[in-house]
Amino acid sequence: MGPESMQGLKRTHECGNLSRNEVDSEVVVMGWVDSRRDHGGLVFVDLRDRSGIVQVVFSPDNRPAFAKAEALRSEYVVAVSGTVRVRPEGTENEKLETGEIEVVAREVRILNRARTPVFYIEDGIEVDENLRLRFRYLDLRRPEMQRALELRHRAAKLIRDFLDSQGFWEIETPVLTRSTPEGARDFLVPSRLNPGKFYALPQSPQLFKQLLMVSGIERYFQIVRCFRDEDLRADRQPEFTQVDLEMSFVESEDVMALVEALIAAVCREAGGFEPQIPFPRITYDEAMDRFGTDKPDLRYGMELGDVSDIAGGCGFKVFRAAVETEGQVRGIRVPGCAGYSRKELDDLTRFAMRFGAKGLAYFLYTGEGLKSPITKFFTAGELGTLAERLEAAPGDLLLFVADAPEVVAAALAALRREMAERLGMIDHSRFEFVWVHKFPLLEFDREERRYVAVHHPFTAPVEEDVDLLRSDPGRVRARAYDLVLNGVEIGGGSIRIHRRDVQELMFAVIGLEPDEARGKFGFMLDAFEYGAPPHGGFAVGFDRLVMLLAGKQTIRDVIAFPKTQSGSDLMTDAPGTVAPQQLEELAVRVVRKAPGGEPGR
Ligand code: AMO
Ligand code: AMP
Repeated sequence: MGPESMQGLKRTHECGNLSRNEVDSEVVVMGWVDSRRDHGGLVFVDLRDRSGIVQVVFSPDNRPAFAKAEALRSEYVVAVSGTVRVRPEGTENEKLETGEIEVVAREVRILNRARTPVFYIEDGIEVDENLRLRFRYLDLRRPEMQRALELRHRAAKLIRDFLDSQGFWEIETPVLTRSTPEGARDFLVPSRLNPGKFYALPQSPQLFKQLLMVSGIERYFQIVRCFRDEDLRADRQPEFTQVDLEMSFVESEDVMALVEALIAAVCREAGGFEPQIPFPRITYDEAMDRFGTDKPDLRYGMELGDVSDIAGGCGFKVFRAAVETEGQVRGIRVPGCAGYSRKELDDLTRFAMRFGAKGLAYFLYTGEGLKSPITKFFTAGELGTLAERLEAAPGDLLLFVADAPEVVAAALAALRREMAERLGMIDHSRFEFVWVHKFPLLEFDREERRYVAVHHPFTAPVEEDVDLLRSDPGRVRARAYDLVLNGVEIGGGSIRIHRRDVQELMFAVIGLEPDEARGKFGFMLDAFEYGAPPHGGFAVGFDRLVMLLAGKQTIRDVIAFPKTQSGSDLMTDAPGTVAPQQLEELAVRVVRKAPGGEPGR
C-alpha cells in the first residue's frame, strides 16, 4: 500500500503542546515516528513534531488502526486522530513534557515512509560530524538542533525589534561589490558583462554603512551575511552573519552603551539570564599582560606572571638570552599539578611549541621546594622569586616561556586555556562579558615590513595621538572596542575617521600609495568632502553570540547549512566544477595545480 493522503484530516494540535487540558478531546496530530514499542498486546508510538513528543496508543480492539501501527517504522510520517486521556496510574513518563497523557488512536494514516535514518534522531548523538553534515536535513530534525535554530530566530527578531525601538533602520547593502578591507582574502565573482572584471563579496558592509552616515541616515543596522576566504575554525565560517550597525554624532561611550543594552535584551529574552551592565572594561595592554590575549576568558584565574627582571641575570641561558634580545620570560601557575609525570610534561611542552614556543620550562612545587632539571641554574633567592611572582604554593606546577613578547603571550594564553579546560576550572553556567579597548591603531607586520591596521583602516585614532601617526605610528591608540564573552570575540567596532586628510594620512601610513588609495577608495575619500558627520559603529558576530547562548562548542551547530573545515558543503557538494561553456562566457580559464602546488600544464 502506498502512502496515504491527509485529505479530510486537519491538524488540531502540536504533539508537544498536548496536556491535561485536552483530556477527552478529539485531536489530530501529525509528525514523525520517534519510536514504536509493542507490549502487553498494545502498540505504543512516540510521535514527534517540532514542538515535542506525545505517546499514541493503539489497541487491538481497533483492528484497522492496530494493523497499520504494527507496520510503522522510525521516521515514517503519520497523521493520527484520536482522543486524549490521562495515562493509567504508574505509567506516567516524567521525562516527557506530555508524560501525563496519551492519545488513544482512532485512525492512523501513513503520509510517507522513510528509509532507516543513518543516525538516531535524538539529542547527544556521537556521530562523525561529516555524516551529520551530509544528511543535514536529518541532523536538523534532532530536537537540540531545532532548539538552536529557534533560539537563533528568537535572537534575530529581538535584535530587530530592539534596534527599531532605538531608531535604527535596516538597510540592505550590495553583495556583489568591490573589495572591502577587513584583512581576509576576498571571494571573487567574475562578471560576464565585463569580461576580465570581478566583483568581490563583502567581508563586511563597512564602507556602505559609513556612506549611509554621509547620506544622513544617522542610525543604520543590518543582519547581514559576510564573506571571508580565511582558514576555518570552530568559530569561523567562510560566510557568517553580523549584526552590523552604525550611528552618527556619537562617541565610543554611546556605541558601547547601545551595544550593552542590545546584548542584555537578547540575553534576557532569548538566553534566559540577565547580564550585569555596564560590562567591565580592560585595556588591550592589561589584557595582554594578565592573560596573554585580547580575548580573555574571565571565568577562571591562572593569570600570567612576569619574571623577566630576574631572568635577565640568572644562570639559565635560555632565560637570559630571551631577555637580552628584547624578549621576556613569563609564566603561569597550574594548581595541583606538581605530580605531573615526565610524559605529561613533555606533552605540555609539545603543546606550547604548537603555539610558537621553543620550549617550556617547568617547576614542580613539591614539599621540598621547586623541582626541575633546570633548578641548578637558579639561586635559592631566584627560585623563591619565581614562585612568589606566580603566587605559587606547594602542589602547584609552574610553567614558563621565554621568547619574544607575542610568542610568550600566545603560548601561555593557550596553556592557560588548555589547563583550565583539563582541570575543570571553567564554570559553564557563567557568562563573563568584557570590553577590550584602547587597542593600538596599527601594528608592525614583520613579514611585510610595514604597518597594518589592527582593526580596519577606517578606525579613528585617539585625537591626541593624530600627530603621532607621522612620527611614531606604533604608539597611536585607536578609538576601537571589542566585546568578548567567555574568551570569544563576539563583536568589534570603532569611531571612524570622517575627514579626508586623516583618512589619506592613514592610508599613507599603512603603505597604500596615493594612486592606489584613490583607485580603491576614491569614492569614500570624495564622500568625506561632502559633509560627512562624525560617526561610529559596531558589528556583532551573530553566529558566535548564538553559539554561546545555546551552549554549543562550534558555530556550525547554530548554522542550518554550514561548511566544513575545508570550505565545502557535504550535502550539496559545493564548491563544484562548472561546464567549460560557463567558464568561456565568463572569460575565465582554470589553471590546474600539479600535486606539488605549482601550476601545471
Ligand atoms: P570584525 O572583522 O571584527 O569587524 O567582525 C565583527 C565580528 O564578526 C565575527 N566574525 C566571524 N564570525 C564567524 N566567522 C568568521 N569568519 C568571522 N569573522 C568575524 C566576530 C567579529 O567580532 N566592519 C567591522 C565592524 C565595525 O568596525 O563596525 C568588522 O567586520 O565575532
Ligand atoms: P635545553 O637547554 O634546550 O635542553 O632546554 C632545557 C629546558 O628549557 C627544557 O625543558 C626546554 O623545554 C626548556 N626551554 C627551552 N627553550 C625554552 C624557552 N624558549 N622558553 C621556556 N623554556 C624553554
